[in-house]
Amino acid sequence: SQRRKVDEALSLFPLKQQQLQLVRSRMREGLEAGLKSRGCTIKMLPSFVYHTPDGTERGKYLALDLGGTNFRAMLVRFKRQKSRLYHKIYTIPLEIMQGTGEELFDHLAQCVCDFLDYMGLKKARLPTGFTFSFPCEQSGIDTGTLVSWTKGFKATDCVGQDAVSMLREAIKRRNEFDLDIVALVNDTVGTMMSCAYEDPQCEIGMIAGTGSNLCYMEELKNIKKIKQSNGTTNTNKEKLEGEEDENAAMEAVKSDVTAEKSKMCINTEWGGLGDDRCLDDIVTPYDTEVDIQFEKLTSGMYLGEIVRQVLLDLTRRGLLFKGHVCCFVFPLPSDRLALLQVRSILQQLGLHGTCDDSIIVKEVCGAVSCRAAQLCGAGMAAVVDKIREDRRLDRLSITVGVDGALYKLHPHFSQVLKETVRVMAPQCDVTFLPSEEGSGKGAALIAAVVRHRQEI
Ligand code: BG6
Repeated sequence: SQRRKVDEALSLFPLKQQQLQLVRSRMREGLEAGLKSRGCTIKMLPSFVYHTPDGTERGKYLALDLGGTNFRAMLVRFKRQKSRLYHKIYTIPLEIMQGTGEELFDHLAQCVCDFLDYMGLKKARLPTGFTFSFPCEQSGIDTGTLVSWTKGFKATDCVGQDAVSMLREAIKRRNEFDLDIVALVNDTVGTMMSCAYEDPQCEIGMIAGTGSNLCYMEELKNIKKIKQSNGTTNTNKEKLEGEEDENAAMEAVKSDVTAEKSKMCINTEWGGLGDDRCLDDIVTPYDTEVDIQFEKLTSGMYLGEIVRQVLLDLTRRGLLFKGHVCCFVFPLPSDRLALLQVRSILQQLGLHGTCDDSIIVKEVCGAVSCRAAQLCGAGMAAVVDKIREDRRLDRLSITVGVDGALYKLHPHFSQVLKETVRVMAPQCDVTFLPSEEGSGKGAALIAAVVRHRQEI
């Protein structure tokens, strides 16, 4: 009966078809609402990226990438549909992530300085793409105000500030090198771009890692919250905070529309779904301890906490660790680890469980991460079906560029994700293409496209 109780707890996680349909339709409603007005749960942020690469990109670019597990600096050279990449990875200490904004950006400038030294490029003022993977309200390709921190970053005095200016100022303070920052890029957008360089059908970018997010190419005419070229339709009647930014954005889009651009990549920030409690009917009591929000239910950073809540409950009920509750923090919920390894992790945490305990821990990790994959699959189904309907197609064939540790390293995540998309969007053939060099290469590609256009 002990086993029955554990099974009961585990059975709360797998989502049924009906629940997945609900997530899919809530996601669809969220996407549509975010295209119409600002301040929605799904932010639908314009990226000012209008085209995927066409293979004519050339030259040498710097890419900086902040927002995943690490900060990366890389040099990318594009030459006749080939790219070469040199990079260095830097960790961001917790006290810097949670210190002052000045300390954070000074740290980034110091890492860039080290990288330029290492490459012997301190004197070259390189065109740079800055991947900054936090929600930013952009009013142009090289400017964006941080809306809020996510993924454990808490540096002070940054929200409401322009991310590019903060980096430029830190570089100025250091006074050792200079950069020509031409693009501010979200990691989903960078991932889509780097995959589109290989596969022109790639019009979606997805991250399943520390955070969870998605971008896709949207018809410009559907982005109702930014004014269209005919001068109509800002559906936001009230004066909103940041209206000036919005006006700047409108003007920028207006001139771009006249330059015959028909699509723009939208960074959905889909993790915000559920902020208005619209996911309450699919969650378990364990999730309420974490927060009922799509991001918390699907991203690597929070899955460990949900696992911990389940383990705590099972322990308190005497079903695990002989009922000895102690303060444990469970690391990565992956059942790739063989039981022996699970056991050794438990021991490192000071938990001397039995073999059965290890099996239960492994099953809890599996249940929580498979549900995350199902949720991402239902969200993805909403996106691909929207694109298919907008294009009035019976069938859509599309590629998703994808990155992040959860997708790449978890043994079942990608498989459950793909299966869910197949079932929930039966009229779409979706190919997943893992991003090879990360979103940094995409940021460099965007910088290349921007520079190329300015030179024409
Ligand atoms: C990297 C990208 O490959 O993946 C980053 O270059 C992205 O931009 C990251 O944020 C996400 O993965 P993780 O697992 O480190 O969060």
